[in-house]
Amino acid sequence: MISERKDAYKDGVLKRYNERLSLYGYSPKSLGWIKGRQTVRFKVLSEIGEIDKTRVLDIGCGFGDLYHFFGKLGKNVDYTGYDINPNFIEIAKKHYPDANFVVGNILEEKIRGTYDWVLASGVFEFKYPDMIGFVKKFLTTMLGVATKGIAADFMTSYVDYRGGKEGFYASPEQIFRLGKGMSKRVALRHDYMPYEFCIYIYKDAEINKRNVFASFDKQIKQKFGTDEFFSVRK
Ligand SMILES: C[S@@+](CC[C@H](N)C(=O)[O-])C[C@H]1O[C@@H](n2cnc3c(N)ncnc32)[C@H](O)[C@@H]1O
Repeated sequence: MISERKDAYKDGVLKRYNERLSLYGYSPKSLGWIKGRQTVRFKVLSEIGEIDKTRVLDIGCGFGDLYHFFGKLGKNVDYTGYDINPNFIEIAKKHYPDANFVVGNILEEKIRGTYDWVLASGVFEFKYPDMIGFVKKFLTTMLGVATKGIAADFMTSYVDYRGGKEGFYASPEQIFRLGKGMSKRVALRHDYMPYEFCIYIYKDAEINKRNVFASFDKQIKQKFGTDEFFSVRK
């Protein structure tokens, strides 16, 4: 991004959300979430893998509600919320004093440290020039500080109605291809909402001698205690 475009992006994001914040205050409406589907998105993000006792970085965390959701799930998560908007972070810190929060623009500022999972919900809602380049930079930065994997959600191009010209309706095929360019081990979920989808990109893509992803195989072995299912069948 050239510098003028960078500033326009940041100013645009801050203006959009601060206008809502001054209208609605501490409410999902300030995040643009008006239809009560935030919990569904959080559930899907949290299903990327085992999140209990892990370090999670939530990019574009808004009010840090994902931390609250993890608590409701009974998961013990070392959570860090990260958002470009200092007003959101200020409110988040008041509500969740046990969590960590950082103000930053993922596209410009270096993220300190590493995290097991890096998650993002609702950060690709709006269209910008070179949108695929934008998404690629965003996801690459997320993956760069993740040790286990990343998850991000999108509005889908499989819609029968598009509300306004500003919205970004991503092609799941294109996002899947982008993910595959970053790791061999990718999952795309389009099973939880008709008009949204989520991509999981895993860091550990080691393939074992039977051509199974080693970390996936490990989960099966933990369950059945053997390589061959037939040998445990009575
Ligand atoms: C739709 S809200 C979602 C908030 C939260 N993830 C949730 O689901 O409750 C999108 C958030 O992403 C933040 N955001 C957008 N671009 C960002 C960037 N480049 N770096 C960090 N945060 C960003 C916005 O400030 C906003 O809080």
